[in-house]
Amino acid sequence: MKTKKQFFTTPIYYVNAKPHLGHAYTSIAADVATRFKQMDGVETFFLTGTDEHGDKIVQAAQSKKTTPKEYADNISKLFEDLLPILNVKNNYFIRTTDPNHIKVVNNVLSKIYDSGDIYFSSYEGLYCFGCERFYQERELVDGKCPDHGVAPKIIKESNYFFKMSKYQEWLINHIKTNPDFITPTQYKNEILSFLKEPLEDLCISRPKSRLTWGITLPFDEDYVTYVWFDALVNYISALEYPDGNLFKKFWPGTRHFVAKDIIKPHGIYWPIMLKAAGIQIYNGLNVHGFWNVKGSKMSKSIGNVTDPAQVIDTYGLDQFRYFLMREMVFGLDANFTPETIVSRINSDLANDLGNLFSRVLSMNDRYFKGTVKGPDPIIEKEKNLSLTKDAQTAIDGFQQAMSVCAFHKSLESIWQFISTMNKYIDTTAPWTLAKDKTNNDELATILYNLMEGLRVVSCLIYPVMPQTSLKMQKTLGIEKEEENFYTLEEIPLWGQIKLESHIPKPEIMFPRIDTKKK
Ligand code: MSP
Repeated sequence: MKTKKQFFTTPIYYVNAKPHLGHAYTSIAADVATRFKQMDGVETFFLTGTDEHGDKIVQAAQSKKTTPKEYADNISKLFEDLLPILNVKNNYFIRTTDPNHIKVVNNVLSKIYDSGDIYFSSYEGLYCFGCERFYQERELVDGKCPDHGVAPKIIKESNYFFKMSKYQEWLINHIKTNPDFITPTQYKNEILSFLKEPLEDLCISRPKSRLTWGITLPFDEDYVTYVWFDALVNYISALEYPDGNLFKKFWPGTRHFVAKDIIKPHGIYWPIMLKAAGIQIYNGLNVHGFWNVKGSKMSKSIGNVTDPAQVIDTYGLDQFRYFLMREMVFGLDANFTPETIVSRINSDLANDLGNLFSRVLSMNDRYFKGTVKGPDPIIEKEKNLSLTKDAQTAIDGFQQAMSVCAFHKSLESIWQFISTMNKYIDTTAPWTLAKDKTNNDELATILYNLMEGLRVVSCLIYPVMPQTSLKMQKTLGIEKEEENFYTLEEIPLWGQIKLESHIPKPEIMFPRIDTKKK
């Protein structure tokens, strides 16, 4: 039985618009991290879903002349149906309109209310309808909401407030004493710098006279819950808090994946909500940057979104996953253009990986009719032909980078090894050795090492490119069940490709894209 457990989550996406490439990125990044942990012998649980309450959904439904629920059903399905297209393997898909979720939100609200951390008060403030929240003057840019670019409206209302201020010092201390709580560091610093100013209490209700599409407060039926107080609870309601086995098993190892737009609710509201409700604080928050188009965030409101399914249709699934993980430095922004994806596919996948795979297997086909001949340990030592050290360096670099979500670096480490193997071919020059039969043992040793090196590569690309990984292994004659990947301990063990087995010449894995045609 696996003793280590880890829980990975994506944000639950608003159903006010169809999924786009930005949403796909977070889901794939969390999927890659999950698959890596599985290779590391960890039992995982992956959660994603949709956030279905609030003003935005009501407005979107009205514009389509339908009810919020019907509207939410349709868009939620688009998010759920996208997961297999992205090859993201979730264990559960939560919707905030699920009865069990609503029950858990009530439970958490009642707990905090009973503990005295929620109070009723009248409030006048600047409200951004796009963000569905009140703003403080100092948070505005030129008097406008930084996200929506519109001036918030002054609203006066009686509402329920959550005493966040009471927990400010506790939170600062928690962040400082748990270095992995918010990563990468720049986001931890952003939250800590925000916490240098006094924290205002959070308005956690909306009067039903203004908004009905929400969860009714358990202690006042004239009000519904503020959407973030509802949405954040999904992470525990999905695990059947408080008594569910999933909660007991997975909650202590929680890592949330979000983009930088929602670090405040995740880095401030959520830990304080948990603390106030007497629930263990989540383990960590992994924050990434934005996919931009011509310098602006890809978003529905700007209208510059890319449909991930369409990109996959054009370029292929693993090509898309590779591009996303290789091009973005986790934590920083990246630009999406069709030219960058084409150039990654042509250079990294077609030229480097695809070409090496077909080059090696074609040589084995040419020189040994595709039969795997064994390596000769004496010749290997004499001629210094071993590749195991280079493979180990790649594995170590991969593992280290993956464990801190530096996906681009983990791929760089693998590609470094690919380049080493290409150089190995150039220096050993198998075509010259092949001219003389007496060199056959040396030739076989070289090709065997290259094939084992390619097996190592196939294992390491698994989290990012699961289909390609399995395809390479199948070609190399390694019978693994679907999704039965190598564990980190198994990868470096040389000698897994069967001697005397027959390996056919592979099909082209990554066809080059003709840039003129595209
Ligand atoms: N419903 C809230 C989240 C509640 S979680 C308890 C929400 N939904 S959202 O639909 O707006 O999704 C925001 C998330 O989508 C971002 O945090 C990020 O994960 C992803 N992205 C949306 N646009 C993105 C980019 N342009 N680039 C990268 N990620 C993007 O906020």
